[in-house]
Parts: sequence; structure tokens; C-alpha cells
Amino acid sequence: MIWKFITFFVRKLDPEIAHKITIKFLKFGLHPRLNKIGIPINIGNLIFKNFIGIAAGFDKNAEVINKVHFLNFGFTEVGTITPLPQYGNQKPRVFRLEKDKAIINRNGFNNLGMLQARKKLEDYRKKFPVGSNFLVGVNIGPNKDSEDRFNDYKVLAKNLSKFADYISINVSSPNTPNLRDFQKKDNLEKVIKFVKEGIAVSKTLNKKLPIFLKIAPDINKQTLNSIIETACSQKIFGLIISNTTLDRDCYLKSKKSNEIGGLSGKPLFKKSTDILSQANKIIKNNNYKLFLIAAGGVSDSKTAYVKILCGAHLVQLYSSLTFEGPLVANQIISGISKLMKRDNIKNIFDVVGVIDNPKEAMKVAINGFKNHKN
Ligand SMILES: Cc1cc2nc3c(=O)[nH]c(=O)nc-3n(C[C@H](O)[C@H](O)[C@H](O)COP(=O)(O)O)c2cc1C
Repeated sequence: MIWKFITFFVRKLDPEIAHKITIKFLKFGLHPRLNKIGIPINIGNLIFKNFIGIAAGFDKNAEVINKVHFLNFGFTEVGTITPLPQYGNQKPRVFRLEKDKAIINRNGFNNLGMLQARKKLEDYRKKFPVGSNFLVGVNIGPNKDSEDRFNDYKVLAKNLSKFADYISINVSSPNTPNLRDFQKKDNLEKVIKFVKEGIAVSKTLNKKLPIFLKIAPDINKQTLNSIIETACSQKIFGLIISNTTLDRDCYLKSKKSNEIGGLSGKPLFKKSTDILSQANKIIKNNNYKLFLIAAGGVSDSKTAYVKILCGAHLVQLYSSLTFEGPLVANQIISGISKLMKRDNIKNIFDVVGVIDNPKEAMKVAINGFKNHKN
């Protein structure tokens, strides 16, 4: 009850100030300490105590890694971290669309830079070495005014890999001009090559550090095919689907819906799930080995379940933390446990990607497998 009350008041503040206060609350230990319920999942040799994690952008400077597990998340993704500190775009640059349960942001990789993040990660790893049961992904991207963006990825991988359970290559933020061009085949191959070179000369003991590519939802089937082919040929571990969208093709009620930037939260659910489902089909049909992390509009157990049924091994969220508050992961986990019981599922892995159509997946999430015809 108290957390609902606090969430309500924090939501009255300017979104960026509200976010700063939330990070301060976490730093000073003013957060719920939840019972450790979990739905574990193993992918490759990564062991996640819980399938649900915090998406990039929440803990940009790796400041509260040791706190978010209290909220019952199984993993976190810090960043996006750039080599040099960066102010980002002019404020205001984050807009809450209350009526739509959505956020538009045009932050532009505001962060304190790689060296500051490295210090925080170093401190964290003194207590919790790589491979501890709360996993940390490090999301990397280039500086806006960098003269060599490819080299930025290499420098970041070189400096940060030692502290990461996985690296997430951000080629999809809409607020850094032309960043999404890195999703094109030749560029993507080059970015991956540079990240691998960075890992090779880094101090990580795991030279086969898992790499995820975080992609945009605003892509066509051809681009998705090309990304997946490149990811497979380059032995990428998985895809994160998706970042925020630039499209406004959904009906939005809030006044601020015309603000420029990436849209996240509830209105992103359909679009990101469609791409996820398409990716799942391509992977299955070609027998590719690629894990999928879903992000986009997850706010409760049903939306999380749909993502899993459509191919997600893991699920991330950010916007619903704003609207639902710090108990959201706990609510999702206990809700999914009930759905698994209803559907007689022992291991969540057994239903990953079993349904080819998001609409059907939603029907199953609501009514169960009993009435589902293949
Ligand atoms: C305010 C804000 C800042 C974000 N910053 C980043 C970022 O720095 N890097 C990144 O890869 N994604 C960033 N994202 C995107 C999220 O990680 C996530 O992919 C997207 O919001 C969809 O999930 P959601 O609907 O649960 O919010 C940001 C999202 C928001 C709302």
C-alpha cells in the first residue's frame, strides 16, 4: 500500500526528476525488500534466477545494481554507456503519457561516461563476482559527436567486458542521429567485429562473453531477416527486441503524444511483440541458435506470458516501473506462477516460442492452453 502511495506522488513530478529521486531512494535503501520468489531460466551457460529484468536506461550509470534485486528482478542491464560523458539533448526530454501508460523520451544517451561506470561496476564486482546469481548486462553505444563510432564500441567492450555477464550492443536508440544505420548488414558486421576485438583485448576471463544485439521495432521483414542472418553468422548470443519506437501509428490520448522521441510502454506492446514473433519464426524455421529477450510494454503477468509464448526466453521492462511501481516484477512473477499452474507447466522454457501468432498468444494467456487449437 505504502509503495502505491509513494509511486502515485513520485508520478506527479517531472519524469526526469522522478527518475533521479527513484535512483536516490534505491541508493539509500528506501525500497521494498521482497520475498525472493522466482521463475529461473538457464540459457546457454547463463543462469538467471528470475526471467524478468530491468531494461537499459533505468540505471544508466550502474549506480543501483546491488539494489534492484531487492525488487525481485533477476537481472539488470546498465547503460547505455558511451566512452565519454555526455549531457544528451536539451531538457525537457522525457514525457509521461499518463492516459496511455506510455513514455516518450529523447534523452540522447545522457550518461556519466565509461570511466565512471567502470568504477561503479568494479565496486559491485568486489562483492558479487561475474556469474553471481544476479546477472548484469552492460549496454554500450557511441558518443553522438564521435569521429569513429565503430571504435567507440571497441573501446567500451575493452573497458567494460570484465564486469559484464553479457554485453548488449545498442544499435537502435532513436535519439542518436543515424545510430539505427548500424543495423544494416555491413555496418552490423563491422560493429560486432569491433566489439569482439574489444572483448579479446579486455581483462575478462571469458573471451566468449555473450553478446546481445538490441534492435529497433521500426524495421521491415527484410531488415529483420538480415539482422538475424548476421547475428547467426557472427555467433551472437541473442537479440533484445525491442528499443522504443518512432512510429505514432497507434491511437494515443495524451496531449504530449506529438513530442519527438522514442515511445515506450503500453502502446509499444503490439509492435515489439510482432517483431519478436517474426524473429521467433525465422529462428525456428532455419534452426538457428539465438536467444531472445523481449522488451516493450510488459506491465503484468499476461503481457509477460505473451512475450514468452512468442519466443522470449527473458523479459525486460522499464516504463511499467513508472506506472505500476516497484512491486511490478513481484506481481508479474506471482501472476506467471499462477498461469503456469493453470496450464500445467513445470518449466517456463517448455513454452518459449510455442505460439506463432501474438493474437493467439494473448488468447492463451487469458484462457489457457485448454481451449487452444494448434
Ligand atoms: C526514459 C527511457 C530511457 C531509455 N534509455 C535507454 C538507453 O539508454 N538504452 C537503451 O538501449 N534503451 C533505453 N530505453 C529503452 C528501454 O530499454 C526499453 O527497450 C523500452 O523502453 C521498451 O520497454 P518498456 O516498454 O518496458 O519501457 C529507454 C527507455 C526509457 C523509457
